[in-house]
Amino acid sequence: MGIRINSVEDERVHLPDNLNAVKFGSVFTRRMYLQQYMAEKGWHAAVIGLWADVWPQLGPEASVFHYGQEIFEGLKAYRRPDGNLNLFRHYDNVRRFNRSAERMAMQEVNEQDHAEAIETLVKLEHEWVPNQPGTALYIRPTQIATETAIGVVESSSYLHYVILSPVGPYFPSGFKPMGILVEPKYRRAVVGGTGEAKTGGNYAASMIAGREAKKKGFFQVLWLDGQEGKYVEEAGAMNVCFVYGKTIVTPALSGSILHGITRDSILKLAPQLGYEVEESKIPLERMLVDVENGTIAESFACGTAATIAPIGKFGYKDKEYVVNNGTIGPVTHRLYTTLTNIQYGLEQPPFPDWIKVLEVEKSNRKK
Ligand SMILES: Cc1ncc(COP(=O)(O)O)c(C=O)c1O
Repeated sequence: MGIRINSVEDERVHLPDNLNAVKFGSVFTRRMYLQQYMAEKGWHAAVIGLWADVWPQLGPEASVFHYGQEIFEGLKAYRRPDGNLNLFRHYDNVRRFNRSAERMAMQEVNEQDHAEAIETLVKLEHEWVPNQPGTALYIRPTQIATETAIGVVESSSYLHYVILSPVGPYFPSGFKPMGILVEPKYRRAVVGGTGEAKTGGNYAASMIAGREAKKKGFFQVLWLDGQEGKYVEEAGAMNVCFVYGKTIVTPALSGSILHGITRDSILKLAPQLGYEVEESKIPLERMLVDVENGTIAESFACGTAATIAPIGKFGYKDKEYVVNNGTIGPVTHRLYTTLTNIQYGLEQPPFPDWIKVLEVEKSNRKK
């Protein structure tokens, strides 16, 4: 399907010099991609243009504001040493977007069209991709329900759009282990619920736990399963891994865990680096004992925003369980370096379809 590309008169790029000082995801490029869905027309009117020119009027009654029929994705474009850009496994994000759409009774989009929309928009906005270490262009595909009625019904109209945000490193003051509080009360997701979908409500429901963890001095929470509250599931909005000797263990996908693309990349990459991988049901009590006696040598969270985030301690019932003396271990470090080298084009990916290179013109447009 063709995308109409609006011309933009003022092509200036206002990429902040120091993204370290900018709040994650608070600066946006000027263009966006948008297409509309109506039951009688299907997806139509695909366009790339300035936000103000293409964003349609959306009233306060639009159903997304009431019943949260909303899905999104998060992926990044990385600046390569040769100046071109890398997209990392973007087709996997496109496929997960459609799985989320199906779960939320929304509209699937054509995979090829969606991937091309991302590629075309990023290429047009290529000068917004920063090149300092650890920086990237964050890509946020979204779909929202726009039914103009407040009855509780599946919407018959939707918007699908993509916006872009240049971002700094996840840890602006350096790659440091974080403290994670085992969440005693709230649950992120249940089997049969929406935990496998990237939908706004999951995140809305988790904010209070994050707030309480921060009050206690922790970075985020460790989510337990929704049925029994006994098994480890995720860390904040990331998947979680534990290093036992040469084996990397992560919770098996239970029906309430998001199928993280970084998690999957680690499962595929680690064996190539000489590690074994295991997906299993991890009882919290056993995990804490293993941390305490050092059987778990390292632990880390993983997701697109941070790639890999080392965990230095777990808090549970007023006790702290310190991992690897609160320092970053060699396995975490090696996985982080290898994965980020692949993303930034410093190393060849073990699977060629992980990287799509976007060739961009070197231009001397005014910043
Ligand atoms: C709840 C949750 N779990 C895990 C992840 C990690 O997924 P990915 O590696 O695809 O970014 C994310 C981020 O997308 C998330 O929101």
